[in-house]
Amino acid sequence: MSYEYILTRADGRVGIVQFNRPKAMNALNRGVMSEMIEALTAFDGDDGIGCMIVTGNERAFAAGADIKEMANATPASMLDNPFIDYWDKLRRISKPVIAAVSGFALGGGCELAMTCDMIVASETARFGQPEINLGIIPGAGGTQRMTLAVGKALAMEIVLNGRFLTADEAQHHGLVNRVVPAEVYLEEAIKLAQEIAARAPVAIRLAKEAINAMYEMPLSAGLAHERRLFYMLFSTEDQSEGMDAFINKRKANWKGK
Ligand code: CAA
Repeated sequence: MSYEYILTRADGRVGIVQFNRPKAMNALNRGVMSEMIEALTAFDGDDGIGCMIVTGNERAFAAGADIKEMANATPASMLDNPFIDYWDKLRRISKPVIAAVSGFALGGGCELAMTCDMIVASETARFGQPEINLGIIPGAGGTQRMTLAVGKALAMEIVLNGRFLTADEAQHHGLVNRVVPAEVYLEEAIKLAQEIAARAPVAIRLAKEAINAMYEMPLSAGLAHERRLFYMLFSTEDQSEGMDAFINKRKANWKGK
């Protein structure tokens, strides 16, 4: 499949989507977002893929939603043709998605990284929600996910006053998993994705679902949901295989069933 705005490839069991609008700092227009979702959905349905990566280039992961495309929008046009829904579609991908971030991750780009399941950041990464400078606020989850990640005090500065976080600050506040030198950020993300992709596939999907359920429901409902998923895994061949492998001191051979 060839795309206009993204590049895709597989590295073993890892599917990689790279934004390819370098001249526009990978601004997220409809083309980028729809192609990204199409590619991730295809990887999600491919048994040969266990984990995915979304990335940009060294200068910019993505500098936000495309301001030029959005400048003349109206509430009605946005309701008719809901661009922001693409972020929700990313949330519904069932296999893990890792954002490999270098340079600017701003506005919708930061929201996209936060919608992924993990973030591997280069030392040069900068995270921010500068929508206030455009006379708007974040619209793809920034006020919610940023606040959940870094807490109210810092989120207020980021959203109300356009403060950017360095990669180290983002890690300190729990927004990113790891910070590595710029030369190796994608390699490190691929390594992490390969480790995850080598694990029991059904358990990986349900583990992601269980953790994300925390954001949607009160603790008692989340605990009940986790328990149902836990019980369900005892119907899989991988549960028998994993426990037999442990008992017999051998490596498990996952079937994804
Ligand atoms: N949309 C459209 N084009 C963008 C863009 C964006 N979000 N960000 C950068 N570009 C374009 C610039 O217009 C410029 O294009 P031209 O060469 O045709 O003029 C090109 O990318 C390079 O950008 P700069 O010359 O500005 O590069 P810089 O190094 O001086 O600055 C930057 C880089 C700090 C990222 C700056 O470009 C910037 O502030 N970008 C906008 C960031 C922003 O406001 N993002 C929020 C968007 S709204 C949103 O995302 C809403 C939501 O919640 C979904």
